[in-house]
Amino acid sequence: MKGVVLAGGLGTRLYPLTKVTNKHLLPIYNKPMIWYPLEALVIAGVVDILVITGGEWATDFARLLGDFKEMGIRTLYFAYQEKPLGIAHALSLAETFANGDRIVVFLADNVIEGNIIGAKEKFEKMDSGALVILKEVPDPHNYGCPAFDQTGRIVSIIEKPQQPPSPYAVIGIYFYDHQVFDFCRRLKPSPRGELEISDVNNLYAQMGALDYLFLDGWWGDAGASIDAWLRVNRLVAETGANKRALK
Ligand code: DAU
Repeated sequence: MKGVVLAGGLGTRLYPLTKVTNKHLLPIYNKPMIWYPLEALVIAGVVDILVITGGEWATDFARLLGDFKEMGIRTLYFAYQEKPLGIAHALSLAETFANGDRIVVFLADNVIEGNIIGAKEKFEKMDSGALVILKEVPDPHNYGCPAFDQTGRIVSIIEKPQQPPSPYAVIGIYFYDHQVFDFCRRLKPSPRGELEISDVNNLYAQMGALDYLFLDGWWGDAGASIDAWLRVNRLVAETGANKRALK
């Protein structure tokens, strides 16, 4: 399985911290934000990774990650997203890299206390389709939020719903088979003008090919707001992130 880390976008919600740098280069406690998704992938045994970024500071990622082998990464590639046209748009740039293999996509502002080893194992047992990870949150209206049928299957994911159908967020770590790039091609821009990852997941859900599991340990979207960024900093300082085992 290959890893795709999405680190484009404008980071406007963290302005002015992002006035002269990319959001994912900001510190989370003692490391740059992008360190955490890369470390989480390596811990799960995903060591061939594509980082997709954009904007004025894209070359800073190459400087930061020049010693990627010391992090346990085997091969590291970069792609450049010309405009922040959405998560699914950024993902579509990974098609050649994936080359028909399964991928795990990690939003570079997502930080977890634990690991994705169990999720990866669950996905590897699936014949095809996609797997998302859910976490109960106090503010599901700020995220992709799943709606379930009576059997507990996800019927749809609503992006930032005014009336959340469940108390869960779909976190920014997604497992996909090779069909994901065809699904990205089928998308139309959302009302906010972006190709939405939730729409990709909904195409899998409509086929009955979207599975899920719940995340153990805390999760933070450090790019959601300055308070979210501060919270993730505190959590990392107090408890640590990317643990191989949770007590
Ligand atoms: O963090 C989880 C949430 O992430 C999910 O629950 C939502 O369903 C999903 O849409 C996403 O929501 P956000 O509003 O947090 O997405 P954001 O625009 O912050 O983008 C997340 C990451 O994706 C960002 O850190 C960089 C990358 N990105 C984003 C855009 C819009 C790109 O690489 N290119 C882009 O064009």
